[in-house]
Amino acid sequence: MKKNILILFLAFYCIKAFPQQTQLILKTEKDIVLNTDKFAMVLSIEENKDVNTIYLGKKLKDEKEYRKINGQYKQAHDYTNMYQSAYTASGTRNLLEPAISVEHADGNQALDLKYVDHKIEDKSPNQKHVVVTLKDQVYPFFVELHYLTNVKENVIEQWAVIKHQEKKAVKLVKYASANISVKGSDFYLRNYHGDWIAEMQPETQKLTHGIKTLDSKLGSRTNLFQTSYFALSIDNPIAENEGTVLLGGLDWSGNFRVDFEKDPQENVRIIAGINNYASHYSLAPNKEFVTPRFTFTLSTQGLGQGSRNLHEWARNSRLLDGNGERLTLLNNWESTYFDFDEKKISHLLENTKKLGVDLFLLDDGWFGNKYPRNADTSALGDWEVNKKKLPNGIFSIVKEAKKTGVEFGIWVEPEMVSPKSELYEKHPKWVVKQPARDEYYFRNQLVLDLSNPEVQDFIFNMMDKLFTDNPGLAYVKWDCNAVIYNAYSAYQKDQNNFYTDYTFGLYKVLERFRAKYPKVPMMLCSGGGGRVDYGSLKYFTEYWPSDNTDPYDRIFIQYENSLFFPAIASANHITTFGNQDIKFKVDVAGMGKMGFDLNLEELHDEELKFAQEAVKNYNLYKDIVWHGDLYRFANPRETNHASLGYVSKDKSKAVMFNYLTKYTHVSKTTNPIKWDGLDANKNYKITEINLYKSGSYLQNDLVLSGDFLMKVGINPILENNRRSVVLLLEEVK
Ligand code: DGJ
Repeated sequence: MKKNILILFLAFYCIKAFPQQTQLILKTEKDIVLNTDKFAMVLSIEENKDVNTIYLGKKLKDEKEYRKINGQYKQAHDYTNMYQSAYTASGTRNLLEPAISVEHADGNQALDLKYVDHKIEDKSPNQKHVVVTLKDQVYPFFVELHYLTNVKENVIEQWAVIKHQEKKAVKLVKYASANISVKGSDFYLRNYHGDWIAEMQPETQKLTHGIKTLDSKLGSRTNLFQTSYFALSIDNPIAENEGTVLLGGLDWSGNFRVDFEKDPQENVRIIAGINNYASHYSLAPNKEFVTPRFTFTLSTQGLGQGSRNLHEWARNSRLLDGNGERLTLLNNWESTYFDFDEKKISHLLENTKKLGVDLFLLDDGWFGNKYPRNADTSALGDWEVNKKKLPNGIFSIVKEAKKTGVEFGIWVEPEMVSPKSELYEKHPKWVVKQPARDEYYFRNQLVLDLSNPEVQDFIFNMMDKLFTDNPGLAYVKWDCNAVIYNAYSAYQKDQNNFYTDYTFGLYKVLERFRAKYPKVPMMLCSGGGGRVDYGSLKYFTEYWPSDNTDPYDRIFIQYENSLFFPAIASANHITTFGNQDIKFKVDVAGMGKMGFDLNLEELHDEELKFAQEAVKNYNLYKDIVWHGDLYRFANPRETNHASLGYVSKDKSKAVMFNYLTKYTHVSKTTNPIKWDGLDANKNYKITEINLYKSGSYLQNDLVLSGDFLMKVGINPILENNRRSVVLLLEEVK
């Protein structure tokens, strides 16, 4: 009896529901095809003016066939006809995770966005900008979906512009940058967790139904626990050189949220944007809210190609001076900490010259007088030179550096304030803190309210003064060591806007700084890798992946960062951390932008000589690392070694880094490591460089063809007493 009732109920239900569901394969009026060289993302404009993402995958020859795709999927029913919405609005038909939720001026929460028009603009032969305008049917509420295709790099940047003409402010309860729908049989997500000195720890999982969220609520240094950058493999488990994989992330330095929803139809919906946690943004009428960009590539040749796509795109159009040069350096942080004076600095300048690197970087501790910066408990915000340590100011050091034949750079932490500082005493309202609660500190400090234009001016003026007072200053390390606790802004009328306006405020300052100082190299540091994203890398030439400089740990951190960020941006320093020899440390730093942070006096003669030679070698191959293509050959998490190579664009030169990562008496590389990316028809002379204490184990004058190297490979002969090997490959004609 019960069974019959159930059947009757189902039959009734199907009749009610199916008329809509038969429209599942909607006839499209038009498709908007977003093409890159290798893949296409296709938006359909349905008869009812919904805009859906109907395809993401390899390009089809005949664009008319895209609309036949949905018909090939016999999936469960979509009760809404909007599971694949290009920007899912909530409060009307929607049943899944929305991209946008609002509270209209009258308190109503319904939104249904319909197609109005779209425009396509050729920004350059390589970039097309497509804007699709949507409008709610009842309220004067508009969303523009922006897509910028980078054709040859196979990268799409995506964002939304939200505006309205309602009578009063509208609350944006959720306001994503992107809402992508991906079809496949299975989905494997690689995302990252971490903490201070343990950044970029990968985790891979097969997505199950429901929502997996990557997010941050830390306000500043938002990557401390997670990053928004991820790899999603479609159909098959993640592989380096095969399979379809989407690599991307939110180009935003503030709170982020990326949802992966495996929907009732077995598809995955990616919804990425600013985290709406405590941030229901109040948007005034006729003002535009521009979301940050979600940038992604789709590779059909595994992670490796995906990384090369992102690197190429970043160098060409995002990372500051991405195709330019970088300065090698000697930093004093780990050799002096706060304890230095002019005499010590003079000596460090000489050491910089002696080592052969380009620049000396003076770290934390050079400022504060009423409250001198002799420890991390005071003076942040008081950006005047400490007269006791540096009585002749910064300018005299800049001059002395020039005389010594090196450049000079300086550390700042502009977003922060110490409770023990003159700035805090003068401007308590500029500090992020709850008015009636105890203060709570992260590294003994608090965060300034960058949503306040006065604070933005203060920071810009401080940076500007540093450069106008000290012409010739050649480099900046911009640090950011605290998260935001007790989020409250004395400036904001609506506290909901604080977190988001903090990051907009930060970008405003950086924008102004870059308008006046477009070229000066600047390292993005955040107590290690607490802030690395393509929103900020627009203003920075490099980033600091971790305060963990033990070269063994660094191999893993740098390896994972290489999935998303190019080597030219990775500041890798050689320090006293780790008990490995100097060669291992130098070889690990070589796979990015090399720097030193140690006391040369603590090196034995042999070590110093080696370091000096290694800098000379680095100058020979740095161009390949900075501007070439990366190929990863061995993942240290999968075998007993890490191996990767960079190939110059004309394939005439390459450099290969190999590190033994599991030590036992018998651990070694038993098999040759297969190359990739070389020219099969070229012959390469192979030289082992950075030799320390012993000669090379490789045959003298070894020449191998690209064909051989890619089909058979080369064994760098890593073993327990030979834990790192760097090989230079040069074409012989
Ligand atoms: C944290 C950075 O990661 C370090 O390199 C150093 O600059 C310290 N801050 C200085 O306080």
